Amino acid sequence: MGFKRHTITAALPYANGPVHIGHLAGCYLPADIYVRYLRLKGEDVKFICGSDEHGVPITIKAKNEGITPQQVVDKYHKMMKDSFAEFGISFDIYSRTSSKIHHETASEFFKTLYDKNIFTEEITEQYFDEKANQFLADRYIVGTCPKCQNENAYGDQCEKCGSTLSPTDLINPKSTLSGEKPVLRKTKNWFLPLDKMQPQIEKYIESHKDWKVNVYGQCKSWIDQKLQPRAMTRDLDWGVKVPIKDAEGKVLYVWFDAPIGYISATKELLSPSPTLPKGKGALSPSGRGGEELWELYWKDKETRLVHFIGKDNIVFHCIIFPAMLMAHGDYILADNVPANEFLNLEGDKISTSRNWAVWLHEYLIDFPNKQDVLRYTLTANAPETKDNDFTWKDFQQKNNSELVAILGNFVNRTVVLTQKYFAGKVPPAEEFTKTDVLLMEEICRFPQKISASLDAFRFREALAEMMNLARIGNKYLAENEPWKLSDQKRVETILNICLQVCANIAVLAEPFLPNMCINLSSILGIGKLNWRDGGRTDILKTGHPLGTAKLLFEKIEDEAIDKQMEKLKKSPSPPLPSGGGKEKQKILPNGKNLGGAVTIDDFKKLDIRVGRIIEALDFPEAKKPAYKLKIDFGKEIGIKNSSAGITKNYAKEQLKGKLILAVVNFPPRKVGPFISEVLTLGVPDKNNESILVEPGKDVEVGGKLS
Ligand code: MF3
Ligand code: ZN
Repeated sequence: MGFKRHTITAALPYANGPVHIGHLAGCYLPADIYVRYLRLKGEDVKFICGSDEHGVPITIKAKNEGITPQQVVDKYHKMMKDSFAEFGISFDIYSRTSSKIHHETASEFFKTLYDKNIFTEEITEQYFDEKANQFLADRYIVGTCPKCQNENAYGDQCEKCGSTLSPTDLINPKSTLSGEKPVLRKTKNWFLPLDKMQPQIEKYIESHKDWKVNVYGQCKSWIDQKLQPRAMTRDLDWGVKVPIKDAEGKVLYVWFDAPIGYISATKELLSPSPTLPKGKGALSPSGRGGEELWELYWKDKETRLVHFIGKDNIVFHCIIFPAMLMAHGDYILADNVPANEFLNLEGDKISTSRNWAVWLHEYLIDFPNKQDVLRYTLTANAPETKDNDFTWKDFQQKNNSELVAILGNFVNRTVVLTQKYFAGKVPPAEEFTKTDVLLMEEICRFPQKISASLDAFRFREALAEMMNLARIGNKYLAENEPWKLSDQKRVETILNICLQVCANIAVLAEPFLPNMCINLSSILGIGKLNWRDGGRTDILKTGHPLGTAKLLFEKIEDEAIDKQMEKLKKSPSPPLPSGGGKEKQKILPNGKNLGGAVTIDDFKKLDIRVGRIIEALDFPEAKKPAYKLKIDFGKEIGIKNSSAGITKNYAKEQLKGKLILAVVNFPPRKVGPFISEVLTLGVPDKNNESILVEPGKDVEVGGKLS
């Protein structure tokens, strides 16, 4: 390969919610396996990640939760960082893009491109929400995808067909803030001329036919459709300020700043570092001198940069970020971008807003010390070449009939027999049968086979190979039945070989099952081994004393699985049949789990406000008798429409001027030809007809129920 060191990144997750198994399977787990493998081989590697704390997903979350964007990112950054650490994702650094070092690095990067005259400055018409008084970038706007007709494509991307979009590409655009049709307004932004850069980018992609088929294929299709200039700035106030004159009220596009986060995090990890000596022949490892240590990991040709991501991130990592790096000029480009497909849960798309997920922080509480069981299941089912499914039954089955019955059982029997027959000391092996020799030859081949799979980012295959080692050990022990033999020499040899297999597992399983390996090493009484110790059949010397035996895995009972299934069933809106409906809920998430017991946080997600009815009209098209109400909720929320079935208790004329309460953050709902935007609250009278909930005193409109 000829690389001296590796910079391995895992996509910076948005700090707008906790980590779930889809994230883990998509990129964090494969990245961690790969990095652990490189470290075992003694390679120089830095594993970089952090929270992506800018962009519309964060501000939308803040709005929904009624807190500031900073509070959102503080909360989820800590949560994600802690659960990754407890799960054993071995980042060298987990940083965040709201840090000072990141703002500086991203600004400087933009400034360099600006000074090099890379950007084109364009005044364009952008969608503007007059009610919310704000431009509608990225996820603030939804509409129909021009390519696949998905009705819920975002302003930056259609999640259904994967196309990158601009808000003006959308058919029937709608603001996700107010549900209103936006208007066009002129504004100035800075564009990266991907169209002009097409030849260079094409050359780059074409030189990487070795990438995974799904990755290369997606890139190729973008290139074939001809690249378009893309705005690198946004009219928003949350993000890295655009560091030039004339750019007030503008921030860097989140997909401009976030990948630079990999660079800032590396800087943070390796700083302060003394500047390497200047001049030719200086001591700098790159031989160039005058540079700081972090720069080696980003600028030296002998560094191999690999981005682990999920498939929705492909264009950003394979085209836009490389284009930024090319335009800058100093940086190396990714050598590989092993992107995974998506993981489903129990046959349905994982969804944060529907609470259809297995959350890592909850898993760690429900299954203490079972990190490796989840690592095993997610890797065995990794969505490497197509979307894949996680089911709790399969999780249980993989634990009980593979980890417990094969790996755990083999190690336990070997160790217990060694304790019993040889007082816990490794017996000698002097005479070998033909089967012994064959087995030992097979053991020798394992590291190479597993390496080949890992080098090609085929983690399922690598894991299956590793398990085969345990499987053949188990089979050998079962077939040779040393407990039935009276030939002492034979018993010694059999157990010696089984112990060598155990030691091989302790090395070769480390990338996949690191916690198990710590336990196994302590059972075998050995320290940390290297990848090149794998394949040897003399790792454990004759007479070496084993440590104390303990079980590596324990059975998972039905109750534990039933409990998880129950939890999923409690999810407030069970999975809808596939199609549009599902997506709709995702666009305007109101929070999760309002069924069953709620927490104060759940409650706080409901935005209930005081409004004044300014108009009540008949609503003859409604299925049940109702009025159309126009309600004023004050400056922040504005005027909203609501349909209200209160005709029995109120004449139209009575309603004008009344103060009422309504939930204002539900997604707009279509009632016949009318869009009802808020839910006016009522309680039943003795005939079960609705009476409006009215604040007793003359309070301000817009006031929030708390
Ligand atoms: N936050 C993005 C997501 O979750 C990923 C950002 S990756 C980076 O989809 F390169 F921008 F950092
Ligand atoms: Zn589409």
